[in-house]
Order: sequence, then C-alpha cells, then structure tokens
Amino acid sequence: MPELFTITPGRRALVTGGASGIGLGAARRLREFGARVALADLPRALERLSPTDAADFVPIAMDVTDDASVARGVAEANARLGGLDTLVNSAGVFQFRAIENIATAEWDRILDVNLKGTFLVMREAMPHLKASGAGRIVNIASDAGKRGFALLAAYCASKFGVVGLTQAVAAEVAPHKVRVNAVCPGTVAETQMGKVVIDQKIELGFGASPDEVVRRGAASFPLQRVGTVADVVEAILFLVSEGSNWITGESINIDGGSLSG
Ligand SMILES: NC(=O)c1ccc[n+]([C@@H]2O[C@H](COP(=O)([O-])OP(=O)(O)OC[C@H]3O[C@@H](n4cnc5c(N)ncnc54)[C@H](O)[C@@H]3O)[C@@H](O)[C@H]2O)c1
Repeated sequence: MPELFTITPGRRALVTGGASGIGLGAARRLREFGARVALADLPRALERLSPTDAADFVPIAMDVTDDASVARGVAEANARLGGLDTLVNSAGVFQFRAIENIATAEWDRILDVNLKGTFLVMREAMPHLKASGAGRIVNIASDAGKRGFALLAAYCASKFGVVGLTQAVAAEVAPHKVRVNAVCPGTVAETQMGKVVIDQKIELGFGASPDEVVRRGAASFPLQRVGTVADVVEAILFLVSEGSNWITGESINIDGGSLSG
C-alpha cells in the first residue's frame, strides 16, 4: 500500500518527552521513514526505554525547564545527528486542581514544562533548523489549548500558550523555510499521562475504575472513543511531511470531533 505522505529519508529529528507515549510513538514512526532520531527526556524516563528503543535512538538526558540542560542537550543532538531539521516538542505534565488550591510551585512546574520548555527547546534548536533549509517543528498542545476545562487552569494556560507560541514563531521563521505547527489531541488514555488523568478522575469521582472512566470519556467524543498514540502520531508525521509544505502556524485538532461541538 502506498504511504499517505512523503518524508525525505535522512531527516534528523529531536523529540522531547521522547521516552514515552506520543513522543516515543512519533520517534518510532519517523524512524520508519528513514529519520535518525534523538530522544530527549529526563534520565529516569530514558532508563525505562526498551533495549530495542535504546539501540534505535540517540538518548539525550534533558530537563526542558532548565536553560543549561536544554542548551547542552540540543548541542549534543545536533552533534550526534550531524545537524537538526525536525523538532517534536512532546514533553509535558498534567494536574487537575481547583483554582483556589493551585500552589504557586505547581503552577510554575506546569507552565515551566509545557510552555517554557517548548520555548527553550525551540530557541536552542532554531539556528540548526534554519541552517537545514527545511526545518519543521511540531508542538504537542492539547484540546485544552483551544477551550477551557474545569480544574485545568494551569494546564489550559500552558497549552493556550503553546498554540500562541506556535503561531508567533511560525510567522517569524517562515522566511527561513522553517515550518512551525502544533497538534491538539483530546484524551489519549494509553500513555503515562493518560494513566495519570484516569487516576485523578477516579479520585475526583468521575468513575470507579479505569474502564469506567475511559468508557465515560469515550461517550463524550462525537466519534465515541478516546484517542490513541497512533491517531496523534499520524498527524505529527503529516506536519513533518512534504504533504504539508504550505502549512505553518496551524494547530490541528485531533479530538474525535469534540472541539467542533
Ligand atoms: N495523553 C493525553 O491525553 C494528552 C492529551 C493532549 C495532549 N497531550 C500532550 O501530549 C504530550 C505527550 O504526553 P503523553 O500523553 O505522551 O504523556 P507521557 O507522560 O507518556 O509522556 C510525556 C513525557 O514527557 C517527559 N517529561 C516530563 N517532564 C519533563 C521535563 N522537565 N523534561 C523533559 N521531559 C519531561 C516525561 O518523562 C514523559 O516521558 C504532552 O505535552 C501532553 O500534554 C497528552
């Protein structure tokens, strides 16, 4: 069967949050298209990589909230891959909390990982992406970057920020042939974050078991199911591919139709 899109072989990609979930799924699929891929993540997450993934990818220890760690990690990825032309920003954290109970440190942590981290990695990678002449960035935002959800003030603020950051940087670097887009997934239950969301929903009384929470969640989507890593990864790959060559600054909803009402 012909592939849906064309990705020039030999791309050199850095994926943050790459040791798990959507980031790891994107890395594996990019590799199928002949890309060399560096996975940037916290050391404890990199340690959990399977032997196959550890052999297939260049692991980069990086805390996306830390300037020096990001600068070092991007430089290492650039050196080990012989340049960088693709960046997927997937590192993220999540927390339900009523506004009155969000400690300043928790607000800072969520904004630091999800929004500042995306900015820092884009800033450090940009000279390399520009130099490649065919730079692509895909930021993982969220449906919570397009509409408000109760108990998600910090997470929504961070993801709305990612959507705005994506548009602003896209406008700025377009003359350098760097395209910058985002994807906005709804619930993806099968990732580590998906499991955190399910556990917190059980604590909040949205269901008695993971199965019940997922079933209820599925019913809230017009397409009547929650998302999968594959649903999100295929959209990321499209935004890296030649098929999206005239798309930049876009944030694509991958949410079973929920944002369209
Ligand atoms: N799972 C969902 O329902 C869902 C929905 C919408 C958007 N998203 C977004 O998708 C992205 C990927 O999430 P996922 O579902 O694959 O979850 P995941 O927990 O499986 O992956 C997130 C990764 O980010 C890494 N990370 C966290 N803090 C970091 C830091 N300071 N520095 C470097 N890496 C760090 C984690 O170690 C982990 O490997 C996140 O940005 C998340 O907000 C997820």
